[in-house]
Amino acid sequence: MHLAEARIQENPVLDPTMSAALARRIAREFTPRWDQQWGGKFVLHGRPASAGAVRLDGNDYLSVTGHPDVVNAQVAALRLGSGSVVQSGVFLLGDHPAHAFEKSLSAWIGKEDGYLCQSGYAANMGLLQIIADEQTPVYLDGLAHMSLWEGARAAKAPAHAFRHNDPQHLDRMMQRHGPGVVVVDSVYSTTGALCPLLDILEVVERHGAMIVVDESHSLGTHGPQGAGLCAQLGVTHRVHFITASLAKAFAGRAGYFSAPASMRYYTLISSFPNIFSSSLLPYEIAGLAAALEVIRYSDEARSRLRANTARLRQSLVDAGFPIHQGSEQIIALEAGSEAAAMVLRDTLEARDVVGSIFCAPATSQNRAMVRLTLNASLTEAEMLHVESVAREVAPLLKPWDWPIARRARASAKVAIAQVASAEVASAQASGAAAD
Ligand SMILES: Cc1ncc(COP(=O)(O)O)c(C=O)c1O
Repeated sequence: MHLAEARIQENPVLDPTMSAALARRIAREFTPRWDQQWGGKFVLHGRPASAGAVRLDGNDYLSVTGHPDVVNAQVAALRLGSGSVVQSGVFLLGDHPAHAFEKSLSAWIGKEDGYLCQSGYAANMGLLQIIADEQTPVYLDGLAHMSLWEGARAAKAPAHAFRHNDPQHLDRMMQRHGPGVVVVDSVYSTTGALCPLLDILEVVERHGAMIVVDESHSLGTHGPQGAGLCAQLGVTHRVHFITASLAKAFAGRAGYFSAPASMRYYTLISSFPNIFSSSLLPYEIAGLAAALEVIRYSDEARSRLRANTARLRQSLVDAGFPIHQGSEQIIALEAGSEAAAMVLRDTLEARDVVGSIFCAPATSQNRAMVRLTLNASLTEAEMLHVESVAREVAPLLKPWDWPIARRARASAKVAIAQVASAEVASAQASGAAAD
């Protein structure tokens, strides 16, 4: 038997009933990672978290899970039970509770109308699919969420990546390919970077384009009453479409996108998740509606989340972790290779700090990370524990030697050299003028 075939057969995930083409694909795309990078283990699975571990691997930013108002609303809707039909969203009439919730969620963020979907993934796919087409270029920030890229693909639209958080690059791309739809996240899900939305909007408006802002990681956490980043910046009316996963601060299982009321029937009959997948159940909608009320009145939790973010970010910087990519409640510890991210994850887990590994396809190759997500209910003892673990593991892991830290130092050197040569040039010019 050929050596490569022997290796394929040894692979624990291979089933002999699969085709040879599939076996070859798995051997090409998966087996080398499994064998060489992951050491024969699944990269994303660490050890089970112990009861006292500090969990920084969830997105329930305001700790809404289990809130009595949410639980009671769900139970009441379940008890009411009968009368609801399990069917696709396209069939729901205007007096359905889904529509009432769509209206109140939209009003909260400052939009006229919107649409509930089964998930944030479905919302992004379902929106992009109906607002772009083969003739509409879609410009996506390089770190925009995968569901937005998949939406552009479903629309068969030409998708152009612009450099992350770089409005000038977006400008140049639009000069080349014409106006279309610009797509950004308000807060980037891998790095916790904030979108420079005002600068992006300036470019969008100058080119007469439309913009989609995915507020998954800012809805509930940013803005007045948690109404999001667009509301915080006072630009909601300038943003054409807002989308969000309701599996973050809402701690539910749903997604949402805004669209003008005039688009309602076009959306219902065009957006695939709405037609080809069943809609949320009444108890889920009741839970989301109750969560919205909880979130609105959670200013204290929002302040605690902000304080936890500022404090832990500073402690990690002090301990030598290169976390300059972001500023918000998501913190990326970008170790680089998948093997290095596994060592980082295991080192943290051994000390009862639980984050999540992110690697390709969620990040680019060799930019694997452990992502820490903060929440409002972290106790003082938990914060102190994470801070002391960061100080303890830094000399073991040497995060200052991670590729991202080296790149930052190299670009700082280039910037200093540029400033120095600009100063020399300006001194020479003023000397020449004085002569
Ligand atoms: C920015 C962003 N958009 C969309 C999604 C998809 O959300 P959901 O988990 O509800 O499908 C996520 C979640 O990973 C996300 O981070």
